[in-house]
Amino acid sequence: MLRTDSLEILPFRPKQLNLADEIIKEYSNGEITVVWKPRTCIHSEKCWRGLGSVFQPKEKPWINVNGATSQEMMNQIDKCPSGALSWYFNDKELNDKYQEEKNRKETETIVEVTPNGPLMVYGNQRIKLTDGSEKSAHKVTAFCRCGQSSNKPYCDGTHQKVGFEG
Ligand code: SF4
Ligand code: FES
Repeated sequence: MLRTDSLEILPFRPKQLNLADEIIKEYSNGEITVVWKPRTCIHSEKCWRGLGSVFQPKEKPWINVNGATSQEMMNQIDKCPSGALSWYFNDKELNDKYQEEKNRKETETIVEVTPNGPLMVYGNQRIKLTDGSEKSAHKVTAFCRCGQSSNKPYCDGTHQKVGFEG
């Protein structure tokens, strides 16, 4: 990987690059460091349309880390669809703790009991059915809690018709 502090590459001009290695540029405000990988950018323009006080394609450097709070930059960077932008806390201990918590949240399964409705399960699931078969689900599954569904164990909306309370 090539790190450079002298080469300024704007988000809408990466085709001008003729380098085999990944380029990484870093900008720090003392608390966090913004990381920019120009070759990964897909030009969605989200960054500068979302936080123009920091992401300024016509300026040099195009990222002004003093144009917003760290939190505002972190929120905007997390919306970058390509991963061209990322950030880390300069304090290694704090950064490790944050990453650990983030990983935990991304992998944990969330179960939500909805009022008068189904049990919502979010996350990766392996569902073992009564006939011995198994199904996998990856995002969200609604399980019947009212006992009246015609598609058990899943909710089919019948709880509303029967006025389920619970
Ligand atoms: S949001 Fe990410 S992908 Fe979109 S222009 Fe900015 S850096 Fe590139
Ligand atoms: S909870 Fe929805 S059909 Fe039972």
